[in-house]
Amino acid sequence: MKRDLILPPEILYPIDEWRWVESALSSQFLAQAETIFTVSNGYLGLRGTFEEGGPAYQHGTFVNGFHETWLISYAEGAFGFATTGQTITNLPDPKIIRLYVDNEPFNISTARILRYERALDMRAGTLDREVLWETADGRQLLVESRRLVSFFEKHVAVIPYRVTVLNARAAFVLSSEIIEHPLPEKNEYNDPRLAQGIANQVLCQQMAEGKGQRVILGYRTKRSGMALACGMDHTLETDCASSSETKWGEHGAQVVFLIDAEPNKPIALTKYITYHSSPSDETGELSVHAGRTLDRIVHHGFERFLSDQRVYLDDFWKQSDIQISAQPPRLQQCLRWNLFQLIQAAGRADDTGIAAKGLTSQTYDGHYFWDMEMYVLPFLIYTSPRLARNILQYRYSILDKARERARAVNQKGALFPWRTINGEEASAYYAAGTAQYHINAAIAHGIIKYVDVTGDQDFLHEWGAEILVETARLWFDLGFFSVRQNGHFCIHRVTGPDEYTTVVNNNAYTNFMARENLRFAADAVDKIQASSEKHYHTLVLKTELKPGEVSDWRRAAEQMYIPFDSRLQIHPQDDQFLNLEPWDFQNTPLDKYPLLLNFHPLVIYRHQVIKQADIVLAMFLLGHEFTLEQKKRNFDYYDELTTGDSSLSACIQSIIAFEVGYDERALNYLINALLMDLADVGGNVKNGCHIASMGGTWMGVVYGVAGLRDYGGQLTFYPNKKVQFLQFHLTVRGQILAVEIKEGRVTYRLEQGEKLTIYHRDEQLDLQPREPVHRS
Ligand code: BGC
Repeated sequence: MKRDLILPPEILYPIDEWRWVESALSSQFLAQAETIFTVSNGYLGLRGTFEEGGPAYQHGTFVNGFHETWLISYAEGAFGFATTGQTITNLPDPKIIRLYVDNEPFNISTARILRYERALDMRAGTLDREVLWETADGRQLLVESRRLVSFFEKHVAVIPYRVTVLNARAAFVLSSEIIEHPLPEKNEYNDPRLAQGIANQVLCQQMAEGKGQRVILGYRTKRSGMALACGMDHTLETDCASSSETKWGEHGAQVVFLIDAEPNKPIALTKYITYHSSPSDETGELSVHAGRTLDRIVHHGFERFLSDQRVYLDDFWKQSDIQISAQPPRLQQCLRWNLFQLIQAAGRADDTGIAAKGLTSQTYDGHYFWDMEMYVLPFLIYTSPRLARNILQYRYSILDKARERARAVNQKGALFPWRTINGEEASAYYAAGTAQYHINAAIAHGIIKYVDVTGDQDFLHEWGAEILVETARLWFDLGFFSVRQNGHFCIHRVTGPDEYTTVVNNNAYTNFMARENLRFAADAVDKIQASSEKHYHTLVLKTELKPGEVSDWRRAAEQMYIPFDSRLQIHPQDDQFLNLEPWDFQNTPLDKYPLLLNFHPLVIYRHQVIKQADIVLAMFLLGHEFTLEQKKRNFDYYDELTTGDSSLSACIQSIIAFEVGYDERALNYLINALLMDLADVGGNVKNGCHIASMGGTWMGVVYGVAGLRDYGGQLTFYPNKKVQFLQFHLTVRGQILAVEIKEGRVTYRLEQGEKLTIYHRDEQLDLQPREPVHRS
């Protein structure tokens, strides 16, 4: 589906390679800018609303994984349906600093603004704003603020807010607050992607205490019982006379500074913020942590956070930056913004998952999907392997819940929830939820890739193998050897990645991926048995592995039914897909997309129309199992039917289009993925970033343009011949490989490590330090 890719005008959003800059306030872009200017470290996220409290589309303060639960009510329930919804909680907002001049509030949307700039600095990791305001009586005030959510100390955010009156005296009030905003209107279920919304206040205040210019508030959620403590403290530096008062109550807290401002004497308020959360601790205990954190960070001061942030991000960019040809420079800027969002979503998601929207909004209820393993994990594996491991470790932490879920849907092994925060299935629509059993295979695929590329066998021994065993078990139990299909192993009534075709038999993607899962589980068990008695025994103990199971999995893998249509020479998406009526694309106007918002699901399901890459995704993940001819035919057939109504699609279409030689189309898809949010391709960036598409953008460059393929951890590059300039780094088994493509010449350089074998097309290259290898 061709969509317009229109970036906001340069006059409003000037180009700067390292910053996303807004040079004037525009009501047209206000809502989307709130998402785009979010600052987050993967634990704490602050949407880009203004310190002064307005104007705002949606306030948002989120702690990853901090959620409320609610009973899902079905008009008609059924056995095994998910029972409990989970929604990330919109927390009290700590950003507020209201400014009054002679009692007149500074309202940025109505004030006379002489100069304005807001910029997300992707190297500094700060959101910076500078505004020159002229009051009705001609006084000019320079308001400069910064906002930093620390990667170094995950519980901390700091806001320095500095006001200088330039040409007169003035009486200032600065009111620094933590407040609960009124609840947004409930989503009336007409857009299933939005958060379902909880009608009542979910946070109960448990404690509040203040001292000097510090306040700490403690909350507990009503149903999920999670605890939160948030606190703020301040320093005020000024030569002007000042006093302050501190208040707190049921709806938040306020520290008010009264200042007699004098011309050209800056008033520098620094607000230190801390958030601590726990699934079970008492708020009292958390508030003690909050108090200690505040003691420490006020003492450290903002500059120290700024330099720590820089060190963290310098390291991030060193491993993760992608440089592309400078023409047009806008693309470099957009690419960096995408990469920056990935670290903002994943950086300190230490023991949680990564939500589909990161911490930029409540959309999709803050849930973790397969997006993590399929779209974000490859980037993390190759640039920040420790973060990749954290994600997989989170999956391990919910393995017991996945075992329970398998029982709840009458299966053996483990079934990971389609969407979740706390490990329980939260998808109330099984056709496009629980039926996506392929999430099991996505997690298995992620583990395999992680172990192959990092060489982290410990992870496999301690945790990964157990997941592989339980997911393989699920597949073996779910499918059956079908007499009607000559004894082949069939998997029925599942939904593949394409949510426009649901509950089908033998979804080709699922069968391919299940086969990989079964094979690798069997291999892992055999290898562990051969190499470590201790680990093998532990694995048998933990999984109650029975003799014969491993050979069952191998048999199922060998006999896996892979649908193939010999007439069209393509893989049917599932047993019935090719029999469906083709969708009438010609008579579907653009405003009817996404189809899911305009057609009853049954209408969509009975047509050949695809939401997102399905078999095309399998051709990327398991490309060695397809011939080039099959790839081309499949791509030709399915690409025409793909709406791209999911942001997870364009990047994958791009990679395969590059592979089969459709360079122009490939590039269009890649740009589509790259600009998904900045050009607001789906019209919904105001409701949060599309994190999967950002990981997909990285994949589009590395796997698409540079043509990386890495089955079994063996890296082979098939660089695109038309690339002008491209440079990036990959971390492989602890070594660092730099790849540079410049006008028809590729250079592979081992920047760290002793020896790395890679392939350039069919040629083996043994890389040594300081001996770059060039190929044309
Ligand atoms: C896609 C899913 C995806 C989810 C969250 C849906 O629109 O179809 O594949 O996991 O969004 O990003």
